[in-house]
Amino acid sequence: MTCSIPPLVMGGAGFSYQLHQEPETLPVRDIVLRAFELGVRTIDTSPYYEPSEQLLGAALAHPEVRGKYAREEFTLMTKVGRITEHKFDYSPAWVRQSVARSLERFQTTYLDVVFCHDVEFVTPEEAVAAVAVLFELQQAGVIRRVGISGHNMKTLARVATLARHRHGRPLDVIQTWAQLTLQNTLAEQWGFELFRAAGIHTVFCSSPLAVGLLRNGGIPVGRTGDWHPAPPGLRAAVQQAAQWVEESKARDETLASVALRYAVSKAMQNRRDGFMVTTITGTSTISDLEENVKARL
Ligand SMILES: NC(=O)c1ccc[n+]([C@@H]2O[C@H](COP(=O)([O-])OP(=O)(O)OC[C@H]3O[C@@H](n4cnc5c(N)ncnc54)[C@H](OP(=O)(O)O)[C@@H]3O)[C@@H](O)[C@H]2O)c1
Repeated sequence: MTCSIPPLVMGGAGFSYQLHQEPETLPVRDIVLRAFELGVRTIDTSPYYEPSEQLLGAALAHPEVRGKYAREEFTLMTKVGRITEHKFDYSPAWVRQSVARSLERFQTTYLDVVFCHDVEFVTPEEAVAAVAVLFELQQAGVIRRVGISGHNMKTLARVATLARHRHGRPLDVIQTWAQLTLQNTLAEQWGFELFRAAGIHTVFCSSPLAVGLLRNGGIPVGRTGDWHPAPPGLRAAVQQAAQWVEESKARDETLASVALRYAVSKAMQNRRDGFMVTTITGTSTISDLEENVKARL
């Protein structure tokens, strides 16, 4: 199934304790309103990005947003299965409960996309069983599209292939993070080919700044500390590059703006023959959102 998707999606992880010390203090409603106004009408989040679902749910339910935008005018993507950094629950009972909780938090009767979150941390069998529950919920009209997410593209392709064989139909979507960036283009080199072979037509490439690595100032650190896998040498090289871009002042660029534009243009170049690629950007400020929207082609 091909999913009609915009070039840019707004990620919700910026409203989480992983990336922010006090996400409750963020102007989530204003960010949502500005995003919608700028035409970014798809939101990606997860219960793992605690308390992003609650904050986004409250923002979307506020009369200022609800009065302007009907539910059909925006797209909601969330996830199941990852609970905390080290805790996963892919059991059918939890998958159902998690989807029900997301519906409640978003005060909606349907979710546009639900991903099994970070499938590389569970066994392929557990992932495929969770997908089966999401397919049931899709049949019941509660979910529009079913997918899996994670960093390891070989695992994602393996799970997608197994799910296709087991359930007799492919997954609708895959999300992979930091695999189509200024620093890493493995998705383009071989990842998309694996996904195509697994029957996937729609891929969301998240973390175009490799979770804040590719910008001046570096990786954001929330309450869960510095979990980012980038080694010190890479971090230092990126900061040097960021400084160089800003000092050159050639075109009023920053490393973040260059990296965003690169990721979005790569995603668009890889859209062909019914295969769709889109970028999920992460911001917790209106100024970064506005900056990132400029990267749309
Ligand atoms: N496993 C998964 O399923 C998975 C994994 C990763 C991401 N995702 C999804 O993808 C979304 C995006 O990922 P991400 O948050 O890692 O995105 P990202 O764009 O790679 O990184 C976000 C970080 O970059 C900063 N930033 C964004 N725009 C900027 C700009 N113009 N200038 C300077 N800094 C900027 C943000 O800071 P501010 O907050 O201060 O704006 C934030 O710290 C997530 O929210 C989530 O929905 C999914």
